[in-house]
Amino acid sequence: MKAEDLLFSHPFPVVVTDGEGKIKLVNQKFEALVNRSQKYLKGKYLFSLLEGGEKLKKHLLEAYNKSIDVLGVRLGDRYFSFSPLYVSNNLKGVVVVVEPAGELSFGEDILLLLKGLSHEIRNPLGGIKGAAKLFKELSSYDEELVNVMIEEIERIERLLNDVVRSFDFSSLSFKKENIHRLIQQAVELFSSRISEMDIEILYRFDPSLPEIPVDADRLLQALINLIKNAIEAMEECPRRILKLETGYAIHPSGFIFIKVSDTGKGMDSEELKNFSLPFFTTKEKGLGLGSFIVREVVKGHGGELKVESRKGEGTSVTLLLPMKREDGKDSCGR
Ligand SMILES: Nc1ncnc2c1ncn2[C@@H]1O[C@H](COP(=O)(O)OP(=O)(O)OP(=O)(O)O)[C@@H](O)[C@H]1O
Ligand SMILES: [Mg+2]
Repeated sequence: MKAEDLLFSHPFPVVVTDGEGKIKLVNQKFEALVNRSQKYLKGKYLFSLLEGGEKLKKHLLEAYNKSIDVLGVRLGDRYFSFSPLYVSNNLKGVVVVVEPAGELSFGEDILLLLKGLSHEIRNPLGGIKGAAKLFKELSSYDEELVNVMIEEIERIERLLNDVVRSFDFSSLSFKKENIHRLIQQAVELFSSRISEMDIEILYRFDPSLPEIPVDADRLLQALINLIKNAIEAMEECPRRILKLETGYAIHPSGFIFIKVSDTGKGMDSEELKNFSLPFFTTKEKGLGLGSFIVREVVKGHGGELKVESRKGEGTSVTLLLPMKREDGKDSCGR
C-alpha cells in the first residue's frame, strides 16, 4: 500500500511537509481546500497558501524540531494538527491535518437535524391537511371541526418554519440599531412576570453609545433568552435584582458591551462549563437551547460571550459586540 492511498481515504485535508514547511505530498481534500493541484503545490511553503498561515509556522517548526505532536491549533474556522513524520526511524517531515472547528460544525449539525425533523413532520401534516380538505367536500360534515383541524395544522407548519429559521445563524442581516431600544423591548416582554415576582430593574446605560450594526431580530432573541434565564434563576431567591448595563468595552477595543446580571441561584463550575451547550439544562421544563442561541447569535456578530457566576449569589452574562463590521460594511453580508 502506498502512502498516497492512505492519504486519499482520509476524511480531512492532509498535507505532508518537510521540516521547514515545504509541501511534499497532499491529498485530494487538501487540493480542494486550497483549490490548487498537487503538481502546483509540491515545493511551495504551506504558510504561503493559507490566510494567517504565519501563525501556523511556529507550530509546524515546533512539531518538527521538538518531535512532538502539536494538536488543535485554531485558525479561523479550522483546527490544524502537526505530527512529526518518521520513515524507518528517521525524522522526515511533518504531517498536517486540517479539521473543521467542532463548535462551528456543531451548530450546523443542529440546523441540519432541525431541518430534517421539520421535513419529516411536514410530510404527514400535508397528508392530514389534504384529507381534511377532502372531508369538507363530503355532503355531511361538521365544517367548524374541519376548519379547526386545518388551522391547527397550519399553526404547526408555521412553528416549524420559525424553528428552522431561528436556528439558521448563517445569514444574518445587519443594520445600524439602537441597542438600548432592543434591550428595553426585550425587558418589556417580561413586564408582567417582573412585577409579579417583584423584581427590581436597574438600568446602567451609557447614553453616548452609537448605533451599531446588528441583526436586530437575532439580537433581540439573544436578549430575551438572557433575561428569561436571569428571571428563572431568581424564582427561589428573596432578593431579586436584574441589572442591565451597556458601555464601551476596554478590551477588546472597538467593541461595546451589554451585561445582564441577576441575583439568582448562580452556577457551579460544572454548570458554567456546560451552560451554552445545546440541550444542556437543569430545569424540569427547559430545552437547554436559550444559551446556545445566545452563543450562536454573538458568534454570528463576530462578538464574544463572557459569563461570570457564583453559586448562591448570581450570574452576569456579557455580550461583546463589534461597533463596525469586519468587512467595513454596516449592513448586509456576514
Ligand atoms: N442566569 C442564570 N443563572 C443561573 N443559571 C443559569 C443562568 N443562565 C443559564 N443557566 C444555567 O444554564 C442552563 C442552560 O441554560 P439555557 O438557557 O441554555 O437552557 P434552559 O434555560 O435550561 O432552557 P431554555 O432556555 O431552552 O428554556 C440552565 O438550565 C441553567 O442551569
Ligand atoms: Mg434558558
